[in-house]
Amino acid sequence: MVQLAINVDHVATLRQARGIDEPDPVLAAGICELAGAVGIVVHLREDRRHIQDRDVNLLRQTVKTKLNLEMGAAEEIIQIALNLKPDMVTVVPEKRQELTTEGGLDVAAQKEHLRGVIARMSDAAIPVSLFIDPDSTQIEASKEVGATFVEVHTGRYSDAENESEANKEFDLIAKAVDKAHEAGLRINAGHGLNYVNTPRVAALEKIEELSIGHAVMARAIFVGLDQAVREMLALCKSV
Ligand code: PXP
Repeated sequence: MVQLAINVDHVATLRQARGIDEPDPVLAAGICELAGAVGIVVHLREDRRHIQDRDVNLLRQTVKTKLNLEMGAAEEIIQIALNLKPDMVTVVPEKRQELTTEGGLDVAAQKEHLRGVIARMSDAAIPVSLFIDPDSTQIEASKEVGATFVEVHTGRYSDAENESEANKEFDLIAKAVDKAHEAGLRINAGHGLNYVNTPRVAALEKIEELSIGHAVMARAIFVGLDQAVREMLALCKSV
């Protein structure tokens, strides 16, 4: 059964909107863990628009499951990750103007840089996941540069405007998962998954973990965070 990791960035987004100290993503992470999440994901962006250094430091001390630090491959953030020693890092492309991570990492275009980042993380015993589009070139490149995991980008599937587009995007994800598995990579997936489109992805048996943030936090506003996580977990288990 696929496992569920929860991204708590949006709790920090709400806090930063007021510039005060609540709601606290550290408290949110604990609630997600108690509800059954097997991991907590946070993206420490270079512009610190939501998650702050204080958050990752506290989360490192408090997360009892697994802390997955999402990060761009910039030197400042690499240094923070090496000092922090999260349970894993997920390298994502990062552009200042984007609302959220928009596309997968172009691993093929920056093999040398990523090979170096992965080697440094390996020396610190931190497994690396690369967030990539469901594309065979990117899977091969991820294997070549020494990634342990790939996180398959489900955003285009999630954003599909009709059923045939969703089917087409889903097929790309399913093929990418098979290809990554054959290459010996471990596989996570995420972006844009919600209470409607998740079961189909969760049914792909080679995916170990889904990383979900927005949909769970959006539901949490109305039903509470504990229930929102439990409902997503029930969907993952239902397939
Ligand atoms: N995976 C990655 C690499 C992401 O950047 C994000 C967004 O922060 C997610 C998963 C979660 O996406 P969503 O918030 O749409 O569930």
